Amino acid sequence: MKKTLHDLPRDAFVGATFAVRVDFNTPLVRGRIADATRIERCVPTIRHLTTAGAKVVLLSHLGRPEGRARAGLSLEPAAGCLEGMLEGSVRFCPHAEGLQVSESLRAMEPGSVLLLENTRFLAGETANDPRLAADWAIWADHYVLDAFGTAHRAHASTDGLPRAVRTRGGAAVAGFLVARELEVIGGALDNPRRPLVAVVGGAKISDKIDVIEALLPRVDALLVGGAMANTFFRAMGMETGASLVEPAKCAVAARLLEVAGPGMVLPVDCTVAGALLDGAETRAVARSEVAPGELIGDIGPLTIRLFGRRIQEAATVIWNGPLGVFEIAGFAEGTLGVARAAAAAADEGATVIVGGGDSAAAAHEAGVATRVTHISTGGGAALELLAGKKLPGVEALSNRCSA
Ligand code: 3PG
Repeated sequence: MKKTLHDLPRDAFVGATFAVRVDFNTPLVRGRIADATRIERCVPTIRHLTTAGAKVVLLSHLGRPEGRARAGLSLEPAAGCLEGMLEGSVRFCPHAEGLQVSESLRAMEPGSVLLLENTRFLAGETANDPRLAADWAIWADHYVLDAFGTAHRAHASTDGLPRAVRTRGGAAVAGFLVARELEVIGGALDNPRRPLVAVVGGAKISDKIDVIEALLPRVDALLVGGAMANTFFRAMGMETGASLVEPAKCAVAARLLEVAGPGMVLPVDCTVAGALLDGAETRAVARSEVAPGELIGDIGPLTIRLFGRRIQEAATVIWNGPLGVFEIAGFAEGTLGVARAAAAAADEGATVIVGGGDSAAAAHEAGVATRVTHISTGGGAALELLAGKKLPGVEALSNRCSA
C-alpha cells in the first residue's frame, strides 16, 4: 500500500514546499483549454495543501514537445484556468528549472500556488535524467502524485523526483485524485461485485491485447467492439470488406478466441457503409454479410441490444474504448448505446467505471457522465492498470510502512 496525503502528519504541511505532479495535459483549441476536467479533478488536493499552509509547486507536461520550448504548448493558460477554480492567485513561472524557478520559489508564501512551465520543454524529463530530478528535489520537502494520466510514464517528474525526495528524507504520497483512481479501478478488478462485465473497444487489437488477456480470466463477460472486432472476424474467416483489420494480429486473435470460449462476446451485426463519412448511407448487416468493399463503422442494432442486456445484468462494468467511429453521427449509436446502458446499470446500483478519453467523451455526449460511478482521468494509465501492470509513478511513492 502506498501513502496518501492522509498519511502525512499535521505538522508536515505548514510552510513546507510540496512538489505536486499533476496532469494538465488537456486539449487546447486556439490556445484555450477545451476540456478542463483534469485540472478540476486536482483541485481537492491543491486546496487541501494550501489550506494546511503548504507552498504548492505544480509540475506537469503538455503534449510531446520533445525537449524544446514550443509556444503552443505552454502551460500558462492552465494557470489562469486553475486560478478561476481555486478563486485565488496562481503564479506562473515560464521555466521549469533554473534561476527563475528559484526566484519564484523565494517569493512564495505559505498557502500559495506556483505552476512551472511544461516539464517536457526539458530534455531530461522524458529521459528521466537523475540530475533534473535532483535539482527539483533540492527545493521539494515532499512530493504528491496527482497525475494519474501520466503515472504509467517513468519520467523525471513521475519517477526520479519522488525517489530523490524520499532519499532526502521527504515523503512521496498519492494525492486524492490518484488515490481514488487506484481505489476504484483496483477495487473493481481485485474484489468485484459480480457479474463483472468488461466492454473493450477501440481501433487496434494490438493496443489492447494485454488488457484482453489480463481481463479474460477475471471477468464474467468481455464484450468486444470497435474496429478491433474486425480482426477477430477475419480470424474467424469472415469477410470484412475494406474495414480496418490488423492481418499480423489474426493469429493472436484466433488464440484469444480459443482460450476465451463463451466469455468473449463479439458483435453479431454491424453498421456498414461505402465510406466512413458524415452523411454516408449506412445499412445494418449480420456480421457474416459484410460485402467486399464495405466498411464496418459501428456495432449493429442487435448488438447494441445484446451488449445493453449484458451490461444491465452486471454488478460491475468496466468500459474502455469506443464501439464505432462515434465522432461521425451515422456510426455513433453503438458507443452512445453502451454509454446509456452503463448509466442505466449504475442507476440500478452497479459500479460503472469508464476509462480512456474517447469513452469519457462519449459518456459526456450521451449526457450520462454524472450517472456513472467513475470516469478515469487516465487513458493509457487506466489500460495498464486494467492489464495488471504496475504504474511506475505509483511504484515510486512511499510505502505505508516506511518513509
Ligand atoms: C495522456 O494524456 O495520456 C497523458 O497525459 C500521458 O501523455 P503521453 O502519452 O504523452 O505520455
